[in-house]
Amino acid sequence: NLYVGSAAAGGGHHEAQDYPDPFTYDTEYRKLLAAEFSSVTPENQLKWEFVHPERGVYNFGPADEIVEFARRHNQKVRGHTLLWHSQNPAWLEEGDFTDEELREILREHIFTVVGRYKGQIHQWDVANEIFDGNGNLRTQENIWLRELGPGIIADAFRWAHEADPKAELFFNDYSVEGINAKSTAYYNLIRDLRAQGVPVHGFGVQAHLSTRWPFPADMQANLQRFDELGVATAVTELDVRMDLPGGAAPTPAQLQQQADYYRQALQACLNVAGCGSFTIWGFTDKYSWVPVFFPDQGAATVMWENFERKPAYYALQDTL
Ligand code: XIL
Repeated sequence: NLYVGSAAAGGGHHEAQDYPDPFTYDTEYRKLLAAEFSSVTPENQLKWEFVHPERGVYNFGPADEIVEFARRHNQKVRGHTLLWHSQNPAWLEEGDFTDEELREILREHIFTVVGRYKGQIHQWDVANEIFDGNGNLRTQENIWLRELGPGIIADAFRWAHEADPKAELFFNDYSVEGINAKSTAYYNLIRDLRAQGVPVHGFGVQAHLSTRWPFPADMQANLQRFDELGVATAVTELDVRMDLPGGAAPTPAQLQQQADYYRQALQACLNVAGCGSFTIWGFTDKYSWVPVFFPDQGAATVMWENFERKPAYYALQDTL
């Protein structure tokens, strides 16, 4: 009973991602998204800068479409995300608010966005990337932590829970696939919050992997310890990029290694009872964020730009 999902492309904030909304204009893309997956995650369409571009002004059209698409095709939706240091609108980051105002802005946003999709979004990434690589809270970059202190994290989960009591509420981050300082910081925080009765239900590992590094061999053990803590786990944004200097084509060895990483990530999730959701961050290189954000890297998804399947696609299929 594993939901296998993909990000639904669109709304990227980088100028190189300024293509017509694939969700609306690319029929073949849409067909595959419907046919191949049992879950979708709006890639950008629920982030603050996209959904809440001006104070009190919401842009729900594109997210509504994705949620409606998912309903028609019997798919789950993962909501992403509510409290993050990145992709916040200028009015928020550069605004001059008192602590009380800022707190009310977050509360209102969470009630409005989570409330709108009540019963239609089964998992929410409430807090995204709140720790740095050393396992310290990002108290400088993250406006909420900086201005309101770490107590705002529990508030965000409580508000989201009030807005949709049935939604599973997650922490989510990258470089937390294995056991390390960052994933252990989450382990401790989730344990403490749950001991205080805060409605935290899950831990998501993004899994933006690269063939440059070894596969995190302790991924299963890491997911397992969260399982034992009593929370669900999920793989939320898997992709496996590779070095393609000067736009080189991937070699068969790179594609094999990539397929192996996809397979191992899926196997780790399958082996852990509480890992109920497995999402890749886009299924085609045509719309992947990777070449835009990682110069000289790419080919990170399971299909080529023309939607032909890579070895990684078949690796997932054979493992399921
Ligand atoms: C990325 C999107 O894929 C891009 O389209 C956008 O321009 C930037 O953000 N971690 C996350 C995701 O939690 O929201 C990010 O998505 C990738 C890293």
